[in-house]
Amino acid sequence: MPDLSIQYLGLTLKNPIIVGACKLTADLPTILEAEKAGAAAIVCASLFEEQIQLEQYKLELETQSLANVDSEISSFFPENVRHSGPEQHLMWVRKTKEAVKIPVIASINAVSKEAWVDYAISMEKTGVDALELNFYYTPRDLNRSGADIEAEQIDILKAVKKAVKIPVSVKLSFFYSNPLNVIKQMDEAGAAGVVLFNRLFESDIDVTDQKHTKPFNLSNEGDNKLPNRFVGLLHGNVKTDLCANTGILNSRDAIKAILSGATCFQVVTTLYLHKLSYIGNLIADIGAWMDQKGYASLADFRGNLAQKNLADKLVYKRAQYVDLILNSDKLMNL
Ligand SMILES: Cc1cc2nc3c(=O)[nH]c(=O)nc-3n(C[C@H](O)[C@H](O)[C@H](O)COP(=O)(O)O)c2cc1C
Repeated sequence: MPDLSIQYLGLTLKNPIIVGACKLTADLPTILEAEKAGAAAIVCASLFEEQIQLEQYKLELETQSLANVDSEISSFFPENVRHSGPEQHLMWVRKTKEAVKIPVIASINAVSKEAWVDYAISMEKTGVDALELNFYYTPRDLNRSGADIEAEQIDILKAVKKAVKIPVSVKLSFFYSNPLNVIKQMDEAGAAGVVLFNRLFESDIDVTDQKHTKPFNLSNEGDNKLPNRFVGLLHGNVKTDLCANTGILNSRDAIKAILSGATCFQVVTTLYLHKLSYIGNLIADIGAWMDQKGYASLADFRGNLAQKNLADKLVYKRAQYVDLILNSDKLMNL
């Protein structure tokens, strides 16, 4: 069996397969199952400040309504019933870290800079091996510029880096005018790794009932092309580790990510589709492909198809797109 081990965020991982943040990594039994199946590391489900704010708000509403109903009833409750804030999540992360042997990466998503820093400090105290800043941001404000949002994220990254000693990575969406420049700036600000890219939650519309629906957001075949493209453009041009994410559904997709230049990759959808034991299949299939090609380690082929290592520079250029359009008749046998 070839050597699948890698270095990610300064941690030694036995293979490049990381279970990305999701409901499967929000629960100890499934985390233990992932470890048993061979996952090299897990990213815990994110601690969302917005979720805590919502829960706090609901609790306040409940205690207020009790006070309004009957002062006798409300007197049974302590005067200042308070939401525990992130405590419950932190306690759970601590227990998870104690229960598994593989590295545990904690994920946070906050609103204010203070909360980003506070959460990072608290997370570090749980003993996790690294942090992933989930810069999940969906634009809703017509008055905010992209430059303003980017500057804020880089400022948060710098503040978190200053506050903790463990490695800090960032998980990005692809909604930037130029993700390459943002990643370059985050690299310079000390991001130990970049996860490309998060999958954004998208609601749908039911035309019968004319209302929004919330479908379970899983990736589709081919969704890995965008991460591969950006990984391929970044490989060799930044110091930060590149972790591919979105649309890695089988060993072929995994190999494509490494060929593009990824150090490792995160999987979620394929584990929902094929169960956690599928991690074993991924490991076996990547190993078999490497044997067939005569590769002893991932470094032997990592980045072979990155832009930097290609003789045909047009592959990553718009010219190739123009070429495809000009030749579309031939391609479609018209
Ligand atoms: C049910 C579910 C919950 C998720 N929760 C989180 C989360 O808490 N934090 C996060 O950064 N990403 C979260 N994600 C996104 C995944 O980590 C991952 O980035 C995305 O699903 C793309 O990978 P995939 O194509 O392998 O599914 C979630 C995804 C799913 C399907």
